[in-house]
Amino acid sequence: MISENRKSKTRVVVLFGGESAEHDVSCVTAAHVLRALDPQKYEVSTVGITRTGQWVHSELPQSADVKSLSAHGPATSANLVFESAPSAASLVVIPLLHGPMGEDGTVQGLLELAHVAYVGSGVLGSAVAMDKSIAKQIMSANGIAQQKFLTLRDTDDTNSAIDRAIKDFGLPIFIKPANMGSSIGVHKVKTRQEAIDALAKAFEYDEWVLVEEAVTGREIEVAVLGNESPRASVPGEIVPSHEFYDYEDKYIGDGAQLLVPAPLSAAEVTEVQQLAIKIYRTLRSDGMARVDFFYEKGKRGFLCNEINTIPGFTPISMYPKLWQASGVSYAELLDELIALALARHAKRRNKTSR
Ligand SMILES: Nc1ncnc2c1ncn2[C@@H]1O[C@H](COP(=O)(O)OP(=O)(O)O)[C@@H](O)[C@H]1O
Ligand SMILES: [Mg+2]
Repeated sequence: MISENRKSKTRVVVLFGGESAEHDVSCVTAAHVLRALDPQKYEVSTVGITRTGQWVHSELPQSADVKSLSAHGPATSANLVFESAPSAASLVVIPLLHGPMGEDGTVQGLLELAHVAYVGSGVLGSAVAMDKSIAKQIMSANGIAQQKFLTLRDTDDTNSAIDRAIKDFGLPIFIKPANMGSSIGVHKVKTRQEAIDALAKAFEYDEWVLVEEAVTGREIEVAVLGNESPRASVPGEIVPSHEFYDYEDKYIGDGAQLLVPAPLSAAEVTEVQQLAIKIYRTLRSDGMARVDFFYEKGKRGFLCNEINTIPGFTPISMYPKLWQASGVSYAELLDELIALALARHAKRRNKTSR
């Protein structure tokens, strides 16, 4: 009993907020994660990143009070996470940051430099997944079925590219920034002129933009968890309330319907789970990711749309809900993610021991 009490707790830093458009979502998520982390096991602290990129100690979030995340007190920096020393073998950062400058490998690189363990994919896996164009090219090379797409750079002859896309894909087409999330900058367009306008808007977010055929199919999502031996959850289904699963659907109003589990046959479930694990491995994900598909029943079957390495993580988000339905509670999920982060960190340290 005494030794049990003396067992040192793992120190956990919840990193949240951030500069991306998904700042508010991240704050809400952090509040839930803090409540679920077992104080018997973890010594938890929080570091917030303001909208302008300042790193601040934050009391937050018992409630989801986003406004409390402002830089009162001395301005600080990323050192906040590291001041507790790289030697701390049992320090784990949970980056609850979505989108660019959080989910894309930048924060992960900072944590690598500081020799700190962190939840989720590493630098490469994060960067590859964040760039939809690169992810798609790697999936193509590995024979993973997807919707037709082409990649444009803001310096390309975009009008002729649009003509080519319309000729190859027909109308409507989808236009989206390569590096974004939450449906920001995603447009479904029905005419050439709309396409040209949407392209200009997408280029406001990113130098690289995807033009895609519009798929008519169900939207199926699978949660994957693990490092070397990842496992897949039961699949879920999104039923958008709008023309597609847009920002409003994701965060405002009644929004889309989430069906957990998705109504699929046992054979379909197995197929999409195996596919999700293959994609996860192919794109070098670690810890966790949600793999999103379109399902064209009777035609091309499951088409991979994208992978998200820091998926929505409130208790009502798809990723935790899928694990809940697969027998892993929210708190257990956090325990496992922390253990996976420590295991990967230890393994990498051994490989590069100097
Ligand atoms: N090629 C496409 N065909 C049909 N629907 C699409 C296509 N691309 C995106 N969508 C719709 O737009 C939503 C958001 O696009 P997505 O590529 O998932 O971007 P994000 O990273 O912002 O979630 C999807 O969930 C889907 O409803
Ligand atoms: Mg998506």
